[in-house]
Amino acid sequence: MAQKTVQDYIRTIPDFPHEGILFRDVTTLFQDPRGFRLAVDQLLSPFVGETIDAVAGLEARGFILGGAVAHQLSKGFVPVRKKGKLPAATIEQAYKLEYGEAVVEIHDDAVQAGDKVLIVDDLLATGGTAEAGIKLIERLGAEVIGCAFVIDLPDLGGRAKVEAMGVPVHAICSYEGL
Ligand code: PRP
Ligand code: MG
Repeated sequence: MAQKTVQDYIRTIPDFPHEGILFRDVTTLFQDPRGFRLAVDQLLSPFVGETIDAVAGLEARGFILGGAVAHQLSKGFVPVRKKGKLPAATIEQAYKLEYGEAVVEIHDDAVQAGDKVLIVDDLLATGGTAEAGIKLIERLGAEVIGCAFVIDLPDLGGRAKVEAMGVPVHAICSYEGL
């Protein structure tokens, strides 16, 4: 029997959090030892051999993956958090949600000017979250060398948005439709 792929470990929950939404649940990927290892290895594989000074994870599921990627690369991990959670001096960036707006923050000493940073998250949808993360890191003078996701939902336009910022996008798997 063929080995399971990363996508095989992802569970789809219909009508969560709203009717008509197919929620791609990565908890079943994370809880499986082989699945989690496979996801982390495949997230970082295009970037092996590139200079990376830090891995930034986007709250919340990007922390789980980003921490593992940073450990695997023997690099530090920096969190991009929802507003109000980080204790020291921060800079903040607003981004659009389906309804309204949200704000993420990064510590202003999380990365240094000239650092090369890899951003990690579980899923790329509209790209608003990733765009805000990229802006925060660039405002600190660092360079985002790529964004790595487990899942891309290409119909929502996130990949195009991130690539238009000059940042390469890597996604392990992709779901057409919503
Ligand atoms: C989800 C997902 C990504 C983001 C993608 O996170 O984990 O971070 O949405 O959407 P976008 O590309 O349209 O910005 P969510 O904001 O639900 O929060 P969580 O990770 O803290 O659960
Ligand atoms: Mg998220």
